[in-house]
Amino acid sequence: MKSAYKMLAILTLSISAILIPVATTYAMDLHSWSESEKAVLQSLWIGNLPPLPKNPSNKYADDPNAAALGNKLFFDSRFSGNLKVSCATCHPVNRNFADNLPLAHGIGRTDRRTMTLVGAGYYTWLFWDGRKDSLWAQALGPFESPVEHGFTRTQSAVIISEYYQKEYNEIFPQIPDELLEHDLSLIAKPSPDEPASLKKWLAIPSDTRESINQVYANMGKAIAAFVRTIVPEPSRFDRYVEAVMSNDNKGMMSSMSNNEVKGLRLFIGKAKCTNCHTGPLFTNGDFHNVGVSQPKHLPPDKGRASAIGKVLADEFNCLGKYSDASPRDCVELRFIDTDTEKYIGAFKTPTLRNVADRPPYMHAGQIDTLMDVLKFYRDLKPGERSADLEHGDLNDLELQQLEAFLGTLSSPLKFAE
Ligand code: HEC
Ligand code: HEC
Repeated sequence: MKSAYKMLAILTLSISAILIPVATTYAMDLHSWSESEKAVLQSLWIGNLPPLPKNPSNKYADDPNAAALGNKLFFDSRFSGNLKVSCATCHPVNRNFADNLPLAHGIGRTDRRTMTLVGAGYYTWLFWDGRKDSLWAQALGPFESPVEHGFTRTQSAVIISEYYQKEYNEIFPQIPDELLEHDLSLIAKPSPDEPASLKKWLAIPSDTRESINQVYANMGKAIAAFVRTIVPEPSRFDRYVEAVMSNDNKGMMSSMSNNEVKGLRLFIGKAKCTNCHTGPLFTNGDFHNVGVSQPKHLPPDKGRASAIGKVLADEFNCLGKYSDASPRDCVELRFIDTDTEKYIGAFKTPTLRNVADRPPYMHAGQIDTLMDVLKFYRDLKPGERSADLEHGDLNDLELQQLEAFLGTLSSPLKFAE
């Protein structure tokens, strides 16, 4: 009996003597990255996320009091036609500031999917088509959209003066008394699609209209000061990159599984995802037509192509009256690429931070699961895909590895309370 045990022990020892080195070599191959690959990994690492860019058109962008007011406005459903819709209705905190619907629902249904707000302070252009050039100008859109808040700037000024006047006046120039003497409860806004509201808006004296716009712009600036604080915390992927940079084999193995590491290698290599999903937010912030077709029940959507004129004409843009920037600060807007042909059907590359936690996907929620997004990319026919999307054929196992990798980009978020 004793010798049988001995034999077994020797056998086990010799098997492990063979297997352990094999496993270690395998692990080292799996985790060994060339210098240029390391540079790519580092470029995607959260430690590489720069401080928030300055926003010259909003001088309150980094004012903590403005952010605190913006936080309250973000969650306040009194700014809506049915008293039920706030920004958080479609951008709930516990779902990465996005919802789980293919198309967003406020008072009515929109024609696009809600975007996450993670890292929104880093973008030059906002919305799927980039029709706004700042977070504060962006925030003013949903309030007056009949399918989102269904509200108006006149009614917003009433809510500000009734419930937030003290905080508002501590941050911004005082609301003029003259403004508060007006009956602002009327449904008036400069919206060409709604002639009745437009008529009422034009009936207001122009000085008063300007004061209303000023209060409205400042609301946007407070909300922007809050939204720009929403950023991701480090994810397992970031811990992996840190381990790679410090040659910490144990750290590499404990932060990502073999399958996830293989997916990462495909992501930055053969699958060419980093042609567009670059930098620590995994987006180049640019617009591409990747060939997702528009759902049949929705009107055609030209994406970026129809947004260029809109951002140039926006009264709340960087060059407008309510901007705090001097024209020379508005470089992006002044030198905007107006080649509309190039941008037909192009949408903003979405961030992939926390992507596994917020299905469905694409600008109109066309695709239900991450695996289906990957299959979509794989199945694009050579003629249908742009040069940026040319990748070697990917097999099912590789798609699973890519999917596993995308799961390592999830992390808690932080934002100003
Ligand atoms: C009815 C749902 C809904 C409401 C309410 C809503 N949003 Fe959105 N949000 C969306 C949708 C849909 C998009 C994408 C729209 C598009 O591209 O046309 C979006 C996009 C955004 C973006 C752009 C992110 C990016 O990366 O470009 C920001 C920022 C944003 N919303 C903030 C807000 C704020 C602030 C409010 C409140 C004033 C708000 N949203 C209210 C649904 C909503
Ligand atoms: C040519 C640029 C480009 C390349 C290359 C690219 N993407 Fe994208 N990606 C986009 C754009 C643009 C969208 C949004 C398209 C839309 O909604 O019409 C998108 C959407 C996505 C989404 C959905 C995210 C969401 O929130 O809706 C995922 C996931 C994704 N891409 C992953 C990948 C992976 C993985 C690869 C590599 C196989 C890849 N992408 C290659 C530009 C690109």
